[in-house]
Amino acid sequence: MMNSMRSGLLGVLACGLTLLVGASVYAQSLQEVMQQRGLTENDLLAAAKTYHPSGLKDEYVVFSSGGQSGQVIVYGVPSMRILKYIAVFTPEPWQGYGYGEVESMEILEQGKIDGREIHWGDTHHPALSETGGDYDGEYLFINDKANPRVAVIDLKTFETKQIVVNPLFKSEHGGTFVTPNTEYIIEAAQYPAPYAKEYAPLEEFREKYRGGVTYWKFNRNAELSLASKSLRRLKKEGVPTKGLKKLVNQKFEGETAFLDAIGEKIGAADAKKHREALIRHAVKQGRIMPEQSFSVEMPPYLQDISDAGKGFSYGWSVTNSINTELYIGGYGKGNTKWSNRLANEAGMSAKDTDYMHIVNWQAAEKLFKAGKFRKVNGHALIPMKEMVEANALFLLPEPKSPHGADISPDGRYVIVSGKLDTHTTVYDFEKIFSLVEKKDFADIDPWGIPILDMKKAMHTQVNVGLGPLHTQYDSVKGVVYTSLYVDSMVVRWDYLKGKVLGKIPIHYNIGHLLTAEGDTVSPDGKYLVSLNKLAIDRFTQVGPLHPQNHQLIDITEGRPMQLLYDMPLPLGEPHYAQMIKADKLKPVVRFAKKSFANYVKAGKERVERNGNQVTIHSTAIRSHYSPEVIEVKVGDEITWHITNVERAQDQVHGFAVDNYNVHGSLEPGETATFKFVADKEGVFPFYCTEFCSALHLEMTGYLLVKP
Ligand code: CUA
Repeated sequence: MMNSMRSGLLGVLACGLTLLVGASVYAQSLQEVMQQRGLTENDLLAAAKTYHPSGLKDEYVVFSSGGQSGQVIVYGVPSMRILKYIAVFTPEPWQGYGYGEVESMEILEQGKIDGREIHWGDTHHPALSETGGDYDGEYLFINDKANPRVAVIDLKTFETKQIVVNPLFKSEHGGTFVTPNTEYIIEAAQYPAPYAKEYAPLEEFREKYRGGVTYWKFNRNAELSLASKSLRRLKKEGVPTKGLKKLVNQKFEGETAFLDAIGEKIGAADAKKHREALIRHAVKQGRIMPEQSFSVEMPPYLQDISDAGKGFSYGWSVTNSINTELYIGGYGKGNTKWSNRLANEAGMSAKDTDYMHIVNWQAAEKLFKAGKFRKVNGHALIPMKEMVEANALFLLPEPKSPHGADISPDGRYVIVSGKLDTHTTVYDFEKIFSLVEKKDFADIDPWGIPILDMKKAMHTQVNVGLGPLHTQYDSVKGVVYTSLYVDSMVVRWDYLKGKVLGKIPIHYNIGHLLTAEGDTVSPDGKYLVSLNKLAIDRFTQVGPLHPQNHQLIDITEGRPMQLLYDMPLPLGEPHYAQMIKADKLKPVVRFAKKSFANYVKAGKERVERNGNQVTIHSTAIRSHYSPEVIEVKVGDEITWHITNVERAQDQVHGFAVDNYNVHGSLEPGETATFKFVADKEGVFPFYCTEFCSALHLEMTGYLLVKP
């Protein structure tokens, strides 16, 4: 090894490099370290490509699903250092998500299904918001497969701001995927079920069970449109609102300045009266608008992964499917003996092809706006019949048990992989649109949907290896990467020329993969992360449940792919992820405190009582809360506003009330509100849970609950 080392460029470098460890107690050469640890030249190269000396930041940020944890994992590339878990569907104490803090309690409440609290999620596909088909760094969306829900995360704060429950589906998989300007967030069903919230026997599978795709309308200025609503309300109440709209849309340095400006227009008393509504609405916030959203009815196939067309295919979306066999354990064929039936996995993969659903969502939007829908569970559902009549829904055969459906950066092609076929299939939207235009259909499915001819829509098919799943794009035109689940490999190939360029083994059983900005109109190439389902022998054994393994691969043009790093992820099955340039993210460092309606000014702390309603206005600063002693009576309903009046970066305080299941995190400038009933007599210390200063232990007080 040493001989080959000396001949290498790195060897030359290493010979000249001496590392000083400690205060020159002893010197150590790079070669010595290599020898002691049994490292190769390639290992050192990989280390040099990923190592970040203290303070050096990553070029990219990955947002990965947290699998069954119901969270999102954020990590840096190429260092593969985990930066954050974002609480989404699951309570998370550190961030104060779901432990008495009002905003987070309200968001989790939105995730209730038919009144039932569901405090976990099977998160699958995160999607970054896009402008012109490029990640804009503003929002992140994530779905829950088990309890069909979609969440909105604001990347100014990396906090979940909204959860919507799918009103039709019982499970979903093909979410979330955004249209190029984040007009819609796509969420496709998985296991067909009746839309109605009632029982239907499996014998009525064809009649009553349905799939579908939901198009959730996203509005980046949702709060502004609420503001105009509240202005209308003011007008109704006789408050003069002339010139107010302009003010609401304007940015102000804090609440006082904002209210003063409003007060000049409508009178100080009215401004004060409507203070809370006005301030909340003055903030621009993106939200899903359920009343402007709609779903497209689909046959009871198992809809799967979706993607939104861009560029050439803008206005269209695709959703592939499996089990077009409609196999449900042999049900409905007089086959009553379980032992005679094929398992679902065999029955569902009997045919050579399944269908990709091709939807013209712009046409669907027109149908929605024209009222061509029926309301199901209070939600607009566009029937298949309407879609077919409007030339807005088609089926396209795709090879055996397809999984990935990935549209090229220019929007011209879509690449599909059949899990049980060794080929990937490249379809050409130009050919698809031409078939659609000429109404050149190969067949009609039992639900009346036109089926296009696979061969006529195809650009090429490439034999890439065993178990191809998902494809991601490179910055080099025509170059793509496909995960090979059965082979445990990543294949680099050219979808325009139809040829394989190279392969790299991974460890093991790759599912999704991602490249830097690989879902956008301009992928960066450079890095690829392989999201592996099994780690097997890669890490120290920690019992029979192993962490999963994200492997970083250098995909720089003109070189063979190089494996750089193994990152264990011990938090669920991190199903899919997206990688964005770090400099596109513009998170807030501290909150503009005065923008919180319940902001408490230092020196104005107080406790107010109104019957059994106790409102505490308190502040937190290194290293005390004011007030520090709160006296209440058993049964009092507590509303506790706390403002962290710190201005320094990262000067966070925690807030815990012993025995009351109350915990929060107060970021600099933030006002958080906690609500709970003091239903237990006794003495309850409250304290700061962040090690905020040398006197952190002293940051405490008493909640005295008297009988
Ligand atoms: Cu504040 Cu510890």
